[in-house]
Amino acid sequence: MLVANAAVLALWAVSAQATTNDAIAERLKPVGEVCVAGQECKGVGAVAAAAAGGAARSGSDIVAKHCNACHSVGLLGAPKNHDTAAWQARADAQGGLDALLASAIKGINAMPPKGTCADCSDDEMLAAIKEMSGL
Ligand code: HEC
Repeated sequence: MLVANAAVLALWAVSAQATTNDAIAERLKPVGEVCVAGQECKGVGAVAAAAAGGAARSGSDIVAKHCNACHSVGLLGAPKNHDTAAWQARADAQGGLDALLASAIKGINAMPPKGTCADCSDDEMLAAIKEMSGL
């Protein structure tokens, strides 16, 4: 009787230890996962899709958050918001809105690439330019 009890106790102890190990492993799981360039990375696709797809921000959101710092006051020679004539002159000189979009994406003189909105999609950049220029 005593032997049987000891065996049951031992079994119980082993299985208790097993669940404890699982629980510990679960708790110790890394919070973030490292993504290596060139390899598939879980989660990144979903983030990119959210940025590019349904969750696209409006032009005025982008302008308020990223572009106004310079374009609201014309800092460093930036064409001002709603100064449509200044924007039109640039568009005419450079071949239209697409050309302005292209230079905004790669940066132009004192303006950093994408006007500091590193995660802006091309569509979001274009929406912001339309919002500021009124073109
Ligand atoms: C750090 C200041 C700064 C920020 C922030 C900034 N810009 Fe600019 N931007 C400039 C300056 C300065 C110019 C004029 C550059 C020149 O022609 O010398 C400019 C010019 C432009 C032009 C005209 C490009 C051309 O080819 O003439 C576009 C389009 C533009 N910005 C879009 C944006 C958008 C969209 C944002 C926000 C996502 C933004 N900018 C944020 C400084 C800024």
